[in-house]
Order: sequence, then structure tokens, then C-alpha cells
Amino acid sequence: MSERCPVPADGVHATTEVTATVNGRAVRRTVPIHYRLIDLVREELKLTGNKEGCGAGECGTCSMFVDGKLVKSCLTPVQKVNGCSVETVDDLDRDAGMTVLQRAFHKCGASQCGYCIPGMVMAATATLRENPQADLEQIKEGLGGNICRCTGYQKILDAVELARDVINGSQPASALDEAATTSFIGHSARRLDAPGKVTGAIKYAADEWRPNMLHMQVLRSPHPHARIVRLDLSRARALAGVEAVISCDDVPGIDNFGVFIEDQPIMARGVVRYVGEAVAAVAAETVDIAKAALRLIEIDYEVLEGVFDPELAMQDGAPQLHHFAAGNVCKHTKIRKGDVEAGFKDADIVVEETYQTAAIEHAYLEPEAGLAYVEADGCVTVESPSQNITHHRHMLAKVLGRPINKVRMIMSTVGGGFGGKEDMIYQGMLALAAIKTRRPVRYVFTREESFVASAKRHPFKIRYTMGLKKDGRITATKMVMVSDGGAYAMSTPGVMNKSAILGPGPYAIPNVWVDSIGVYTNNTPSGAMRAFGAFQSEFATEAHLDLCAEKLGLDPVALRMTNLMRDGATTHTRQQLDRVLAVECLEAAIKAAGWDAGVPYRQGQGQAPRSDLGGEGNRAPCTLGASLAPQCVTEDIAVPAK
Ligand code: FES
Repeated sequence: MSERCPVPADGVHATTEVTATVNGRAVRRTVPIHYRLIDLVREELKLTGNKEGCGAGECGTCSMFVDGKLVKSCLTPVQKVNGCSVETVDDLDRDAGMTVLQRAFHKCGASQCGYCIPGMVMAATATLRENPQADLEQIKEGLGGNICRCTGYQKILDAVELARDVINGSQPASALDEAATTSFIGHSARRLDAPGKVTGAIKYAADEWRPNMLHMQVLRSPHPHARIVRLDLSRARALAGVEAVISCDDVPGIDNFGVFIEDQPIMARGVVRYVGEAVAAVAAETVDIAKAALRLIEIDYEVLEGVFDPELAMQDGAPQLHHFAAGNVCKHTKIRKGDVEAGFKDADIVVEETYQTAAIEHAYLEPEAGLAYVEADGCVTVESPSQNITHHRHMLAKVLGRPINKVRMIMSTVGGGFGGKEDMIYQGMLALAAIKTRRPVRYVFTREESFVASAKRHPFKIRYTMGLKKDGRITATKMVMVSDGGAYAMSTPGVMNKSAILGPGPYAIPNVWVDSIGVYTNNTPSGAMRAFGAFQSEFATEAHLDLCAEKLGLDPVALRMTNLMRDGATTHTRQQLDRVLAVECLEAAIKAAGWDAGVPYRQGQGQAPRSDLGGEGNRAPCTLGASLAPQCVTEDIAVPAK
């Protein structure tokens, strides 16, 4: 919702009347003066095909036509469309259901999460309306204002080119049909959800409406670490149009949840631990009234010293975030195999280096959103794009103090998640507000809230030590990884495990030492993101292998070929492998990349496979791991009492 006009003290804006033609129908509405075109279309007319992704003119998901011209409707004041003709994706082809372009998107598989696709369809429609002969570069330019985060652009471009060819007659309309086949096996199958995504008909959480629905807004901490000394909700509760103001005091059940470590309240309980942590929430008749009520909440903080660097957080005297986590250690995963010191002694060179990766925002195009309501049988239901609904359901039941059969989670269409929607962040507040008010309650994050309040990819610092023989054989690897888990555990324990287990990569190494330590800090919590810890640790491993190859004067591919696991290998966590395709995979990659650096390795030539790695002519299970008695140790944090 737009912040163009400051919210008045009572949350009630002056209004303006707008008259327009929307998708061929005459429309007259009186709306708040700060409304944008997207607010008129989505909130008033309930045409939810076009989405709001950024609210700042950057992503293009909100693209519509005004008098035939493509505009970003999040940047278009509603007053500007007075007397104009507006076209949205909802009704591009009322008769046929899908335009040629939408059918081409369907044919080419040009939709994945689908959140960007309505905007893409509108931009592509504009491009082909303007120039039915547009070449690829012109198509790319036409789509230049639209961002996709998961489909990938190639299929979208393929779809627009196919549509162009059908429209200008260079391909028959039958090119849009599905190829006749007697089997789906070995053939591309069309996505069943694609028609809903290319037409905008499919509903995401922010598209959901219920009669009598309330809107939620959340008060968030401006401090990274502070004690809540006073919290007075009375003035906010007294504002006309406010139905409920909730804080941790309203939580009826056991208010600490988490998939791995139960350390998180649904709203701050006595202490805030990161900027953006929820402190209280308001459910009101409108978003503006809810925002006005937030300003009436009186809160006093006693600011505490914070800690923002995980290495400093582990030092003696550092501020402690949780009473149960000594030294702020959230999770320490250890892997010990063989004797790394002996391995380093046996090496011709020992190479040390430190690697760092940054926190990364998922930036899914669909900001977090949800709708909660209480069914006639008393079951509280939350619809949200949660990637982990079974865990969420169990956690909600505990927090709400309800039997599991009185809590229901519905996974709404996910407009991009990448792991970032695995952790439960706002669903508890929504459910609580719905129970309190006995009315449906909806909450839609702004892009800014999504940046501030949702988990990020774990940043890592990795100290790497590797011993190698002159011919490239690795004798020992030591990885000490420290990661910033932020204020609450969320997925940190799982990420630490994965980073340790997968970190040394697909290489047979006789001596391995791994420490993967996730640490509490006063930063935004870290959580799941694609590859879940493996990305960070394997980045370090592959970068380090390149460095070692350089120091040894070996080709980096040859170095990897020398050390890759072969059939029958045992991983450093004692997993016995039967068939291992790592060599074939790297050979295929070399071929695809056209690798030809005059290097020692050539397919089928070069260095002989090591006998201790398995390999051609050596399919017998490798006994190296067993003789070295590898072990994997993880230390779990005790579950805190409430
Ligand atoms: Fe309007 Fe992103 S450009 S929502």
C-alpha cells in the first residue's frame, strides 16, 4: 500500500473520486487520496491478476495499460487515470480465455512461481502490439523493465518469439498446440498451473479476500538489542476501527518455537534481539487505521549492548543473546576422520586460506503474506506461502495452546521462496489476531518489511587448510567455518550440518576435520536458502582447489580428477557409495565447457585413477574410510524452558 501520503492520526484519509474504464467496463469509485492505480484495481475492483512486487517501479509485476500505454501501476497516482481506459492482465482476452501470447507462454513452459508472469505478459503484449516483427533484441528491450527470479528468461523469450511468429503468420497457429504424444515420458509436459499463472487467475496469499476481513500491521523494533521496559497498547486499542492489538501477553500457549531449537516467541518477549523483530500487531478495518494504531503504541526500551560479528560473539564477555546458549553458540557440527595433523606431515605442501561469503536476501518477487480465519468448528486456519507447513502447524498448535486438529495450515501459491519461506515469521501473529477477533485477518508485507524481517542466507567465514602431495593427491583437509545465525536459530542447525557434511565436496580425502559453528548475533536471523549451507562451504572447497592447483603447477581439472570419489568410495561421514558418477560428470562439464588449456588431463588419458579411490577396474568397496574410523559428531543445544 502506498506511503505517498502520511497516514493521518485516525488512519482515515481524504478521498478522491475516480472515473475510468477498466477492462471495457465503466468504473466510478471514491477511494483514499493516496491510492495508486494498483490499489484501485486490486483493492477496490478485486482484479488481482497483476501483482505488487516491489512497490517502487523496479520489478514490473504491476504493469498495466493506460490508454494503450504500458505503465507501472505502483507508480501511477489514481488521479492520473481519471477518464482513461485501463487494461489489466485479468481480461486480456475475454472470449478465448488466453491470448496467443499467453498460449505461447503456456506452450514454452514460461512460468514457474508465476508471480512475475502477468507483468511479463503485459510487457510482451506491449512489445508485439507496437512491433509484430520485433526481433530478439527488441523483445529483450521491451521486457527490460520486468524482473524474473525463478523461471529464467530464456523460456520467456522463446515464448514471445513463438507468439510473434504466430501473430505475423510465419508460424501456423497449430505451433501453439501441444505436440501429439502417447506418453509423457521423454517429452516435455505442459505445466498444469500455467494457464492460471499466465492469465493472473491463480491466487497468491495477498490476492485472497474474505467478507468482513481485517488488515494487520506490525510494530517492529528499531533496536538490535534492547529490553522492553514498558509497552502500553491502550491508546492503540481505543482507536476507532481497531479490532485487536496483540503482544506476547496474548499468546495462550507455550511461546517459544523453532524447527530445530525452540528459541523464538511470536512477538518479542521482554527483549528485542534484532532490528525488525515484531513487538506488537494491530488488526483493523483498513491498513491505514492499523498503521495509525501502531503510532499510538507507547513503548520504552532500555538499549543493550549488541554483538554483530559471530567471532566476537563467541568471545568471553560478549553480550549473551539466549541464556541456554553459552558463548552464543547455536550449533556446532564436528566431523573427524583420520588424523589431519599426520596428513599435513605427510603432505608436500600445506595451503591455507580464508574465504568469506555474504548474507544474501532471497528477493522473491512475492513479499510474504497470509490470511488467517477461524472456521465454524473452531479450527484456526492460516493460508500463507509457507514452505514447511507441517512444522508450522505443529509449532502453531503449541504456541496457540490448541490440539493439532484445531490448527490448519494451507500452503498458498508460492511466488518464489528459495527456502526463505521455510521459517515461520508472521503466521503466529495472524492466527492469534484471527482467534482474538473471530474475523478473517490478512497481512501483506511491504518490500521493505520483507528485507528487514525475513531470514537471509547464512554468511560464512571459512578457514581452510589442505595438505597435498606434489602429484595432487590430497592428504588432509581442515575446514573451520563460523557463520552468523542472527538472533534466532531458525534453520541454522540444519544449515551447519549440511555445510559440514557436504563441505569437503565429492573428494576422497583420508584425513578430514570440519567444524561448522552457527552463532547467535543481533543481526537479522539467517535461514534456509537454496543449497542450505552447501553453497558456502563448497565455494570455499572449489576456490581452495584452484589455489592449490596453482601452487602445485597442476591443471585444476586434473587435480579434481585425481581426488574425485570413484565407485565404492566411503564418504567422510561413513556413507558407503555404490555407483559414483563424479568423474563422468566432470568429464561432461569439461566437454561442454570446451576446456582445452594444454593441461595434463585428457579424457581417457592422463593420470591413472588412484587405487584407494575405487575407479575403473577397481569397483570393490573402498576400505580406506573404515580403517580410519571416521566419525560425525553434532552437539545439540538443550531446549530452553519457557
Ligand atoms: Fe510496480 Fe514492482 S514495478 S510492483
